[in-house]
Amino acid sequence: MSDIKLHLGDITNAKVDAITNAANPAMLGGGGVDGAIHRAAGPALLEACRAIAVKDGVRCPIGEARITPAGDLQAKYVIHAVGPRYHLDPKPQRLLRSAYSNVLQLAVENDCHTVALPAISCGVYGYPIDEAAEIALDVCMQAEFSTLQKTFYLFGEETFGIFQAAFTAQNR
Ligand code: APR
Repeated sequence: MSDIKLHLGDITNAKVDAITNAANPAMLGGGGVDGAIHRAAGPALLEACRAIAVKDGVRCPIGEARITPAGDLQAKYVIHAVGPRYHLDPKPQRLLRSAYSNVLQLAVENDCHTVALPAISCGVYGYPIDEAAEIALDVCMQAEFSTLQKTFYLFGEETFGIFQAAFTAQNR
């Protein structure tokens, strides 16, 4: 699957059309990769997030994604996805699959050719990395997304190793 790559490193260094953020429904920043992306993108990103309409109290429901300009990042867009909290949200598998799928759909709709992805929900939201990797890679392998060059930016040897094992297993 040459259209999927795994990279060990900080997603804010990615030089791609769209950088994916693991956000929360308020979309006003946070810790983890959300914090890193907002720090690197600068205040323009927060401004762009504030411009996203709030509906039923949230900018982005769990399992969905929103696209904004990328501020100072080396990308055209940031695609903010909200993954499930593994121990709190119902059917976390379906919600995580939906989050990745919505990210890639937005990338295709906005004529992106390259997209960087983090391990959504695998930090604060407590998703077991091996289970998340299987779902994330399976979505990426869908034919409808084959035109996109997708690179996972994994933060730490452990996460990278688990994604690599899942990738090898799915490519047998
Ligand atoms: N580049 C790539 N990956 C990163 C980076 C980075 N700079 N920083 C952290 N990560 C990794 C984490 O190690 C984890 O594997 O991103 C993955 C997702 O972890 P979180 O950022 O905690 O995201 P998530 O688990 O989806 O929780 C989202 O956390 O930061 C808040 O505002 C965010 O409320 C939201 C929640």
